[in-house]
Amino acid sequence: MKIGIDKIGFFAPHMYIDMVNLAEARGDDPLKYTKGIGQDEMAVNPVTQDTVTMAANAALQLIDETDREKIDFVIFGTETGIDHSKAGAVYVNSLLGLKKNVRAIETKQACYGATAAIQLGRGHIALNPDSKVLVLASDIARYGLATPGEVTQGAGAVAILLSKDPKIMTIEQESTYQTDDIMDFWRPVYSDVAIVDGKYSNDKYIEFFADVWSAYKEKTNRDFSDFEAICFHLPYTRMGEKALKPHLESMSEDVASRLESNYKISTTYNRLVGNIYTGSLYLSLLSLLENQTDLKAGARIGLYSYGSGSVGEFFTGILEEGFREHLNTANHKELLANRKEVTVAEYETEFLKELPTDGSSIEYDEESDPATIYLSGIKDHMRQYKNKKS
Ligand code: HMG
Repeated sequence: MKIGIDKIGFFAPHMYIDMVNLAEARGDDPLKYTKGIGQDEMAVNPVTQDTVTMAANAALQLIDETDREKIDFVIFGTETGIDHSKAGAVYVNSLLGLKKNVRAIETKQACYGATAAIQLGRGHIALNPDSKVLVLASDIARYGLATPGEVTQGAGAVAILLSKDPKIMTIEQESTYQTDDIMDFWRPVYSDVAIVDGKYSNDKYIEFFADVWSAYKEKTNRDFSDFEAICFHLPYTRMGEKALKPHLESMSEDVASRLESNYKISTTYNRLVGNIYTGSLYLSLLSLLENQTDLKAGARIGLYSYGSGSVGEFFTGILEEGFREHLNTANHKELLANRKEVTVAEYETEFLKELPTDGSSIEYDEESDPATIYLSGIKDHMRQYKNKKS
């Protein structure tokens, strides 16, 4: 049975900053940000968007009445969830008006959480072929103002509907993965910003790719020539390129140039949004599918997932006949084009806004956020969410 991606969509908050402005404000050469790091813009999330609302907004555009009937598992991959106990999936289930006979859970392992969710979802469909599984990947990447990691922040969510006989991409059975207990990036429970050993994290990302790729090659006898493109987890858009580079000399010129050129296309949306942790790999896949106009059905796409700490996985998908007709390309381009640019000072103000943590209440104005689903306030330690359309 074929199992894979039937629908895929994303959401990014309505504000962004231009990286040239950020570089100038930090006294850096703008080329370091746009070329060295490879980021042109960075999403800025208002206080009215958290990981729950972003995931719900991403899923809202995907789900129709048949899906509502068939979804019986909602898996929320995040490392910046809103509660230590309750899963974001439970809130999204209710905000989307999905039925109650659903399993709803959260998965966590840094940026790997959504890949774990996809693999769990595949297993669920293998056992329950008529089910559909909603996978959500939603995060707000925060390192702190004027830190080296600041240029690699971002916010956004990807929603993926998994089913049998998928319309976009079948996920193949073979995959290789590995875990190693290292401290390259982590966020202690008392901190709202990540702690990172930047250079070490880059090295580990590259090393993990080499390891899972080599295991995949051995397991399947496939080579780079079997791939039309390889999408990478993109904490910033130069990162995948650094992992691919050491392997280029083992490929023919044609294969190297195809993978390099498709890699570039696979960074299109990520360059404008920044790191969205669990969703970054899938935003890269969307960038490729919606911007590479020569992709054909039957093409094999590689997917490299890396979550610091660390877990890495290499797996693959095959594009389905007519996949392009089932993408939401125009809406995604419009969402990005309609965002509002903010100044560095406005971004800093948003960054420093905090929700009450002492039980006091707050209400937010719905006019300040154009998104359909938003955080309308906090009352008695409970987040209040609103769907403007219900
Ligand atoms: P940095 O030390 O400020 O930057 O931090 P740099 O000095 O390494 O420079 C970056 C690049 O810009 C270099 O290119 C420079 O040469 C170039 P490279 O040599 O690497 O090819 N550069 C310039 N280029 C053109 N003109 C100029 C110029 N100046 C310099 N004038 C770092 C960079 C990524 C380390 C930092 O931003 C950071 O710590 N970020 C967060 C950690 C991170 O993103 N790690 C990635 C791997 S780990 C991962 O992916 C997991 C993660 O998503 C978390 C999770 O799993 O949950 C992070």
